[in-house]
Amino acid sequence: ARLPRRTPMTQLMAMPEHAATAEPLAIEVRGLTMSYGSRQVLCGVDFEVRPGEVLCLLGPNGAGKTTTVEILEGFRQRTGGDVRVLGVDPADQRARLRERIGIVLQECGFPRQARVAELIDIWRSYYSAPRPLAELLALVELTADRACQVRRLSGGQRRRLDFALALAGDPDLVFLDEPTTGFDPESRRRCWAAIENLRSIGKTVLLTTHYLDEAERLADRVAILQDGRVQTAGTVRQVAREAGVPTTISFTAPERLRSGDVAAPGCLEVEVRGDVARCRVPSAAVALRELLAWAAANGLGDLDDLTVETPTLEDAYLRLVDGGTR
Ligand SMILES: Nc1ncnc2c1ncn2[C@@H]1O[C@H](COP(=O)(O)OP(=O)(O)OP(=O)(O)O)[C@@H](O)[C@H]1O
Ligand SMILES: [Mg+2]
Repeated sequence: ARLPRRTPMTQLMAMPEHAATAEPLAIEVRGLTMSYGSRQVLCGVDFEVRPGEVLCLLGPNGAGKTTTVEILEGFRQRTGGDVRVLGVDPADQRARLRERIGIVLQECGFPRQARVAELIDIWRSYYSAPRPLAELLALVELTADRACQVRRLSGGQRRRLDFALALAGDPDLVFLDEPTTGFDPESRRRCWAAIENLRSIGKTVLLTTHYLDEAERLADRVAILQDGRVQTAGTVRQVAREAGVPTTISFTAPERLRSGDVAAPGCLEVEVRGDVARCRVPSAAVALRELLAWAAANGLGDLDDLTVETPTLEDAYLRLVDGGTR
């Protein structure tokens, strides 16, 4: 989508990032509140999901992720705030959303005697413009299991069947609430591949998970829900920066550094343990410049095994969630 030619540059620069694509948001949540009886679970949740992105909603048990997802799906009535899903309010236009969203629930029961392809075909028949069966099987890597009875599928295969059913109507937006909980590493990888396939065909995905490596791998952006609000949102890099997690630089400590013949660079706190030197720095670029200048000035040559470890989402999450109010 292109912007009209007449848009002045100053106006362009003032626009939020997503507006430059001129595409409406897939999901927009503003000031969302939710109470169960007298207990308030959501106290003003704000976030957005852009079309074609994978957004991962994170947060401790009981933070309100499922509650939020169910409100967006139209299964639960919110207490207050504004919510738009594909441009409509799910609270009163759920019927309009039905064809356009796909949902993978935590648990769902299937007729156990049915075969994979049969079941997908039944689901397809509920929609006016279903996705072709062969494509659905391929997307979730169940082509070889198409004739298998549901009762004979493993947990991971069944989950991928859930995906296929959620995609049967060729929805624009897919909700996945903890899609890989309890899976072995191989099944998780296959689920990830299925989610990556969704993204590659342009679907928008809202995913919740407790696996931070999963979020790091799949999400374009994450939003961390805690104490009833989104505390932090952004790309993994942005969240790590906001959490102030340092980057670690390590290298093999030159003999002259270990023996005390050469002092470590004064501006960096270098810790030498065994033959490894390590420093934790806020900015890798600045520190690397200092380190290499120091090595050159002291005739240490190239620093062997120079490694830069950028913070993981897990580092950032733990710092944000544990360092918060709890
Ligand atoms: N139907 C309900 N009635 C009353 N309280 C509820 C209901 N559903 C959820 N809650 C409460 O609301 C809070 C948020 O629950 P929710 O399931 O949305 O959290 P979650 O972030 O999905 O947690 P988890 O990571 O464990 O899945 C919890 O304290 C839960 O006990
Ligand atoms: Mg949940």
